[in-house]
Amino acid sequence: MTSVILDKVAKSYGNLEVVHNIDLTIESQEFVVLVGPSGCGKSTTLRMIAGLEEISGGTVSIDSRVVNRVAPKDRDVAMVFQNYALYPHLNVANNIAFGLRIRRTPKDEIAKTVADVAAILGLTDYLDRRPSDLSGGQRQRVAMGRAIVRRPKVFLFDEPLSNLDAKLRTQMRAEIKQLHKRLDVTSVYVTHDQVEAMTLADRIVVMNDGYIEQIGSPMDLFMNPVSTFVAGFIGSPPMNQMQGVVSGTPSGKQVMIGDAAFAIPDNISVSDGQQVVVGVRPEHFSMTPDDGSPAIPISLNLVEPLGSEALLHATIAGQPVIIKAETNGDIKHLSGISQVYAPRNLVKIFDAESGVVITGQHGS
Ligand SMILES: Nc1ncnc2c1ncn2[C@@H]1O[C@H](COP(=O)(O)OP(=O)(O)O)[C@@H](O)[C@H]1O
Ligand SMILES: [Mg+2]
Repeated sequence: MTSVILDKVAKSYGNLEVVHNIDLTIESQEFVVLVGPSGCGKSTTLRMIAGLEEISGGTVSIDSRVVNRVAPKDRDVAMVFQNYALYPHLNVANNIAFGLRIRRTPKDEIAKTVADVAAILGLTDYLDRRPSDLSGGQRQRVAMGRAIVRRPKVFLFDEPLSNLDAKLRTQMRAEIKQLHKRLDVTSVYVTHDQVEAMTLADRIVVMNDGYIEQIGSPMDLFMNPVSTFVAGFIGSPPMNQMQGVVSGTPSGKQVMIGDAAFAIPDNISVSDGQQVVVGVRPEHFSMTPDDGSPAIPISLNLVEPLGSEALLHATIAGQPVIIKAETNGDIKHLSGISQVYAPRNLVKIFDAESGVVITGQHGS
């Protein structure tokens, strides 16, 4: 039962602060993913938890113990990196056993532990091989095996799948998730890939320029992004964002994008004439006026079939949008589309200047 608590954690290199007063509580056995663009401070934050970077301000606690001054090896954490960092001259068994040897674990216990971990990771047939004779996925499994045998209180992953090709990445992603289910060890996972974040996380922490932008479950971030930054980062393709202006009507407020009217949820406080950003997810556009929202004329430029779905590249009053549509096995019917609907309760409104959401909670 291990929680990790970051209390106003900051990191500076010289005069440059790159992580700013981060507050984050990671619950025991939780799988938390730090996601954000390159350079936003993910690795630095993870390395402060690991003890590989000095903490410039605030405290990191593991299991209710402040570890700011505790050496990495005494923090009971195990880290898996992007570049595996395996010993090239040792075979798989000895790579996995390395940490145990250093701790002078008895020989028979090492043998049993290595065998158990190899079985979990599907490496039993490869124990005699050197890393150079393994595939990328197998190497990454060995790196994980080395972390698992230490029975750490916390797993820390820094972009562990970034060196793998797309297919293997999908497979290893599922393996990491299953491993977490099985071992139930508190895990912090860093990635720039929002798909990895969405699929792996109990909770996602979106970072932006050294700050935490939003913390939430994958579906919460998908449905209720707090800012245009999160809206534009989570989802593939991400949420469409169009510049619009609020216009009051007798039947309620709407936002105009050129001549196109978007119905907006009732509960949001905007004023007539206010400049806003309208956010609609590609998959939330509809081909039918289900909830009575007005038709939105589109100018369709391109249909990209993906299989069961297609991406319609279009413009609304000159502003680019991507719309996801069902193909039902054929895309001919999509090429003639000239209007779509944006269901009122799925439309998000953001302040044009700050990018902060104005919309209330979905459905509220
Ligand atoms: N040793 C260092 N000295 C100075 N700046 C650094 C150092 N390490 C990282 N940085 C800076 O800190 C910021 C955050 O880096 P990092 O945590 O590696 O980002 P991420 O992992 O999100 O890509 C970046 O702007 C990076 O240039
Ligand atoms: Mg990094």
